[in-house]
Amino acid sequence: MLVSAKEMLTKAKAGHYAVGQFNINNLEWTKSILQTAQELESPVILGVSEGAGKYMCGYKTIVGMVKGMLEELNITVPVALHLDHGSFEGAKACINAGFSSIMFDGSSLPIDENVQKTTELVNACNILGLSLEAEVGSIGGEEDGVIGAGECADPEECKKVADLGVTMLAAGIGNIHGKYPENWAGLSFETLDAIQAKTGDMPLVLHGGTGIPADMIKKAISLGVAKINVNTECQLAFQEATRKYIEEGKDLEGKGFDPRKLLAPGAEAIKATVKEKMELFGSVGKAFN
Ligand code: 13P
Repeated sequence: MLVSAKEMLTKAKAGHYAVGQFNINNLEWTKSILQTAQELESPVILGVSEGAGKYMCGYKTIVGMVKGMLEELNITVPVALHLDHGSFEGAKACINAGFSSIMFDGSSLPIDENVQKTTELVNACNILGLSLEAEVGSIGGEEDGVIGAGECADPEECKKVADLGVTMLAAGIGNIHGKYPENWAGLSFETLDAIQAKTGDMPLVLHGGTGIPADMIKKAISLGVAKINVNTECQLAFQEATRKYIEEGKDLEGKGFDPRKLLAPGAEAIKATVKEKMELFGSVGKAFN
């Protein structure tokens, strides 16, 4: 059964660890993440961007696939199916399709409009028992080859949005999606500290989990981060293992062309990445506590 992310994140914040959100792209991704979570007895959040949603045929297909896997793979750890960086329309579509958790990213809107749209979604999610993530201060990243520095959110604006009754809050603290550039200034712990001081028990979300050094991850968790998003790192692990398989000519040996063989090393590499992150985030063994 899919669950809202509320309980797992409340426990994570109180227990000083973080739950990983791992973005999914297809069946192999989803299966690898779910099996690893079950093996490690860790709660987990499956993230779906709007682009990945379209790629996988649409939100209803994803809900069907994930629910089927929970049953047929006997997954008993808490699993939330979460829209990542949703538009207002996307959020409504995922609520209707049966997602258990929604992110509305109004960070590029004027703060009053972000507040108004987030409020509408707080009401809809509360009625259905879904968790809702809001965002203040946009997360940087690579767009058309230009790498933007991650913005630092205004702690007052964070408080304003947290007080609307959202479940968790993503706040920019200099983090960036994708690979970090050589000259990245690192996370702004001063900003994070100020945000936590204003938002109290609110579980904070760290986007752009790929490539953040372990010591910074641990410090962020100590300052209130209870959810960490990882996407690119699983993609890179999959790509590297798949490249190796082909470069070693394994696809040319026997039935090595069978997609179930061709995609297997990549799927195993995703499992290893997810395991490493769950260990670092401290969520291993926390599923049934
Ligand atoms: P990365 O791709 O940098 O890991 O970021 C993932 C993310 O924040 C998804 O919202």
